[in-house]
Amino acid sequence: MKQLNQAPANSPKLVKWVNDWAAICKPDALYWCNGSQEEYNQLCDELVKSGLGIRLNPAKRPNCLLFRSDPSDVARVEARTFIAAKTKEDAGPTNNWVDPVELKKTMLGLYDGCMKGRTMYVIPFSMGPVGSHIAKIGIELTDSAYVVINMHVMTRVGNKVLDVLKDGEFVPCVHSVGKPLAPGESDNGIWPCAPLDKKYIAHFPETREIWSFGSGYGGNALLGKKCLALRIASVQARDEGWMAEHMLILKLTNPKGEVKYVTGAFPSACGKTNLAMLIPTLLGWTVETVGDDIAWMKFDKEGNLRAINPEAGFFGVAPGTSMKSNKNAMLSCAKDTIFTNVALTDDGDVWWEGIGTDAPAHLIDWKGKDWKPGQVDADGKPVKAAHPNARFTARAYNCPAIAAEWQDPAGVPISAFLFGGRRPSTLPLVYEAKSWEHGVFIGSTVGSEVTAAALDVTAGTVRRDPFAMLPFCGYNMGDYFKHWLEIGKTGAKQGNLPRIFCVNWFRKNADGKFMWPGFGENSRVLAWVFDRCNGKGEARATAIGNLPTAEAIDLKGLEGEVSEADLAELLTVNTEGWKKELEMIKEHYKKFAGHLPSELSKQLEELEARLG
Ligand code: GTP
Ligand code: SPV
Ligand code: MN
Repeated sequence: MKQLNQAPANSPKLVKWVNDWAAICKPDALYWCNGSQEEYNQLCDELVKSGLGIRLNPAKRPNCLLFRSDPSDVARVEARTFIAAKTKEDAGPTNNWVDPVELKKTMLGLYDGCMKGRTMYVIPFSMGPVGSHIAKIGIELTDSAYVVINMHVMTRVGNKVLDVLKDGEFVPCVHSVGKPLAPGESDNGIWPCAPLDKKYIAHFPETREIWSFGSGYGGNALLGKKCLALRIASVQARDEGWMAEHMLILKLTNPKGEVKYVTGAFPSACGKTNLAMLIPTLLGWTVETVGDDIAWMKFDKEGNLRAINPEAGFFGVAPGTSMKSNKNAMLSCAKDTIFTNVALTDDGDVWWEGIGTDAPAHLIDWKGKDWKPGQVDADGKPVKAAHPNARFTARAYNCPAIAAEWQDPAGVPISAFLFGGRRPSTLPLVYEAKSWEHGVFIGSTVGSEVTAAALDVTAGTVRRDPFAMLPFCGYNMGDYFKHWLEIGKTGAKQGNLPRIFCVNWFRKNADGKFMWPGFGENSRVLAWVFDRCNGKGEARATAIGNLPTAEAIDLKGLEGEVSEADLAELLTVNTEGWKKELEMIKEHYKKFAGHLPSELSKQLEELEARLG
């Protein structure tokens, strides 16, 4: 094995761990990432030379690359994601469990020689500002240069992390695309990965280890994100009394210049990035971005729950993103961006469905094939030019709306939590929980129509995704509910817990059209949330919670887009619908058996009684 550069002098434990893995994976070369711009540029050049990456037209997209993944490797694979806790019960009813000893045996077999013909990169990374007391250090080993450049954008990488780490604790993260090369063989520009039954995204919660094999895509491979910052961190948070959540963080300023910070947990591809970067249509209000996917929250000495964004970039859904729907995201990915599975235009730019401009007469689609508008497949179905889960990896500091305090190691104090998903019926536009426990009940029952963010669930059906954490909770979800109730008890002692709201931008009418215009118009709902946190904002108590009165949502300028009748429907309690909802919640709760906190069964009973 060729040592391409020197191992750090002050981290002997780390160096030993790396060498042990190199002996298993048998790469041709070993490279320690320093996190520099030169390193990033050089890896980009190498990826382009190898045919895996395409450099976009610098006049259109400066410093941007496009990658096309294997059609089998386009999203997280939930069926191949494992929580290998000591017992099945510790993993709980919503996670895939395998015995950790078994799994390690299987995976060591796969890792044996898996990096032949490749370089093993060592990526020291920090989730959260380097050196912050809330931040955590991970070390990812990977044989994918694509992963390295993505980690450069999504996390803080390199020597500055090692300087803080010295010989201390880190979360060990091992990743391989699972496709060794024979002598003289190359990828030939084809995305390397392993077949589905060889893919493993494995977490060992007791030892805080992450082992990933066979996929190069997103949350399967960028191990700081869902694997560390949610699945492993949720276990640490439970043990240490804090929260690791699948939440955006935004800063909301009202016309008087008063500021509140709000987080929101919506399932994958349900609008976190969009809400985090929203441009309010309500005059005088501003939204700034602190984070778009993950929040780590701890109580400070005054009892305020403070949130940091552990990431440094956005891995955002491209389709549907336009100058109209999310201008700030479009500007964030105007330069210095890695695109994956979007379409390529003839002049070296990107295109995707919903980008806001008509498709040009010719494109290269995400599979690398010629594409024309109106093209259909053998079954007559329209062929999409971009994959529905195509993504941009963009730097947070390139976002025009990034809040000045987004890297504050102390975090920002949170006033409100929003929960929501894609619910075509029943769930109103917004309502407020009656209490913390009621809010936890609402979070535990979040449901959404399934999206394209995961490979192996049927899009279109409603599935329960408690706290938007179904694929991301690293332990028994019933115990996680309990942890939320515990946080409530800690916070109540200080008296300043965030208020909890449920939102739904996705109600549809009989014609299947969205009843609420969404995006920037969601500022009208945020304004009500803000006012409620200030002890203002009109609400009426109903069976399901506090709903805004019709006058409480400022609709100035929306006349003609949302009729009074539509608004009335968006803000009513549909008792019949809710009775069906109750039955679904009962079914959902059954799964947790003895781990369901009694407070939540009580909430369910009380809701049933209130609905009559
Ligand atoms: P992950 O990165 O997978 O966690 O997704 P996310 O929750 O950040 O979702 P994102 O903001 O990327 O939105 C996903 C899709 O929902 C995009 O196609 C958006 O255009 C669409 N979307 C977001 N907000 C709204 C909204 O208010 N109304 C409607 N109708 N669509 C929305
Ligand atoms: C999600 O699926 O919630 C994402 C994308 O944010 S991934 O990083 O692939 O998990
Ligand atoms: Mn996400």
